[in-house]
Amino acid sequence: MKVLIVGGGGREHAIAWKLNQSPKVDELLCAPGNAGIGQIARCFPEVKATDLDGMLDLARREKVDFVVVAPDDPLALGMVDRLEAAGIPAFGPVAAAAQLEASKVFSKGLMKKYNIPTAKYQVFTDAQAAMDYVRQQGAPIVVKADGLALGKGVVVAQSVEEAEQAIKSMMLDKVFKESGSRVVIEECMVGREVTCLCFTDGNTILPMPASQDHKRAFDGDLGPNTGGMGAFAPSPLMSPELMETVRKTILEPTLAALKGEGICFKGVLYVGLMLTEAGPKVVEYNARFGDPETQVVLPLMESDLLEAFMACREGTLDRADVRFGSGAAACVVLASGGYPVKYETGKPITGIEQAEENGAIVFHAGTKMENGQLVTAGGRVLNVSCVADTLPQAVQAAYAALKPIRFEGMHFRTDIGNKDGLK
Ligand code: AMP
Ligand code: GLY
Repeated sequence: MKVLIVGGGGREHAIAWKLNQSPKVDELLCAPGNAGIGQIARCFPEVKATDLDGMLDLARREKVDFVVVAPDDPLALGMVDRLEAAGIPAFGPVAAAAQLEASKVFSKGLMKKYNIPTAKYQVFTDAQAAMDYVRQQGAPIVVKADGLALGKGVVVAQSVEEAEQAIKSMMLDKVFKESGSRVVIEECMVGREVTCLCFTDGNTILPMPASQDHKRAFDGDLGPNTGGMGAFAPSPLMSPELMETVRKTILEPTLAALKGEGICFKGVLYVGLMLTEAGPKVVEYNARFGDPETQVVLPLMESDLLEAFMACREGTLDRADVRFGSGAAACVVLASGGYPVKYETGKPITGIEQAEENGAIVFHAGTKMENGQLVTAGGRVLNVSCVADTLPQAVQAAYAALKPIRFEGMHFRTDIGNKDGLK
């Protein structure tokens, strides 16, 4: 089969890498792609991930058999709906189902209606009413823009002033444009965070190994939030008993809730969990694979990824062969100097082949070829993943393997896998 992947970051490279192992895949295409993906797939840098018309044209022109839509924006815009309507099989939720990520008002309402454990909340369309509410509730308190905001639409405010500032910038200054015209203000939950990525066809839900990511820029969870500086799986916090609780109280009820609303979610459901004293609660849903969680979860997958994608789309997940190995994986993100604030690009990158010889899988996040030279092209540049028998071994292997890699300004966290006192 000829498969087109939509997107161009580390997550998409991991998906391409895994699909490339499938005997069913004859040719891989990726739009826009990046330099690493370009080694295994034909890339179309001129077609943006959010270009619905362009992607449909490309899929038709190249006569692709299957499209995998990985990022949140095109899903929310209805890329899967468009492709399917044109007779092109596509993996990912339709726009109505992708609302689970694209609208916090929608997802919180669904959880409330169907008694799925999550933080208590109120929705506001008026900034003054939102300010009054945070003054009345006090801090800490969480302010969330309703819509997609490049992962930056959540402020965990430690003071009432910080919450007021967040409301002002979202609702009055419109820093996230219309995404902030409604805000959700919710109770601050306390606990450890775990990510549960699940395959689902709308009837069956199959969790992949639970993972954890590191969102802050610097060691010790200091510095600003980023798109993710590293990840590991499986999470030692997720025991089989806890997974059973999550399945019964969150995963199955989420599917039932969607069905109750007449929505069929086919794709990957990302459930962000907070393990509170009162049990696991939902922090957020995403309607797609996580980045960089995918870079540790897919290397653990033993079965065929294309088969899992097709089973999700066709509604046959209950019969599909979906298996993961018993080992562990860790991923260290190599970022540009200054990321996530201001950074330069175009810096030459060396040492990737040696890192691969050291046993790493090097996924490209922000790279491109310039006059025959591999250069940086984003804030997060490379994701160095290693698989081993145990988590400490995987972490050690990733740090040992990345040593030869160099580019000007490169920085990375040195404490990936050592989270919440875990070693
Ligand atoms: P999100 O963009 O929804 O993933 O939120 C970003 C981060 O904010 C989460 O990973 C949590 O660490 C934190 N967060 C979101 N909602 C809450 C909440 N209700 N209580 C505490 N922390 C939260
Ligand atoms: N790693 C968080 C996300 O993909 O949203």
